[in-house]
Amino acid sequence: MEIIKTVAEMSRWVQEQRTKGHTLALVPTMGFFHEGHLSLMRRAGELVDRVIVSLFVNPSQFAAHEDLDAYPRAFARDAALAEAEGVAVLFCPEVDDIYPPGFQTTVAVSELTSKLCGKSRPHHFAGVTTVVAKLFNIVAPQYAVFGEKDFQQLAVIRRMVRDLNMQVSLVGHAIVREKDGLAISSRNAYLSKAERRQALCLWHALQEAKALVQAGERHSGRVAKRVRDVLLAHGPCQIDYIELVNRDTLERSSTIDHRVLLALAVRIGTTRLIDNACLLHGGDKNV
Ligand code: PAF
Repeated sequence: MEIIKTVAEMSRWVQEQRTKGHTLALVPTMGFFHEGHLSLMRRAGELVDRVIVSLFVNPSQFAAHEDLDAYPRAFARDAALAEAEGVAVLFCPEVDDIYPPGFQTTVAVSELTSKLCGKSRPHHFAGVTTVVAKLFNIVAPQYAVFGEKDFQQLAVIRRMVRDLNMQVSLVGHAIVREKDGLAISSRNAYLSKAERRQALCLWHALQEAKALVQAGERHSGRVAKRVRDVLLAHGPCQIDYIELVNRDTLERSSTIDHRVLLALAVRIGTTRLIDNACLLHGGDKNV
């Protein structure tokens, strides 16, 4: 595996691979790899013959109060894990190379980013779409693979790709869970033992919602109420949102069908966790 640290070198490598007729897939990450990231790399490897993983802790998607410096980093371990997955290149540019002095362009998707996580993180998605647009321009991959845990991020990036006619096919990969159901996330590292136990409330709430819908319930309000009860039954937590939304438009839906997704954002202690699931068979296989 090559470790490439500059945009110029990355562009040269891409050019060379294209000339040789290789196909490329990009897995954008902020590092601190876990099984979720590794499964994205494996998925990418099924699609093309060269997988590029970008590792860039993107400052523009953090708000001033969100501690960018505290974001977990483990470069040597990440490099070893990516190499073991057969990744061709780990692309880890410096901040100044991605955002050189004088940088003043933002790529922003409007409506989709005003909902759900966008309400409490108003500038976050513009940071994500700006850096992802740059990565797509630098790597020009045929495919890019993203996790479905952050399904709003994926919906926003899909919109950007459609709206700007970007020549990349997006692939969403199902949420990867711990054995007990907790969605795998870099943020789980912030949880104490007791909080880790309590964090299972998200999984239990999704399961309960699914059981209700399987029993015939189609009223979103009643499902949301039951979900709130389950979340709070596991201990004190701050519920940021419980939303039943159309998975493409992210519009609230008062009734439940195959396109509707239950999305949760809950703060356990100081750690904000998100999770989601389609509640009807055929929606997805996460729950
Ligand atoms: O999901 C992430 O890790 C980040 O938001 C991404 C897509 C790598 C952009 O910085």
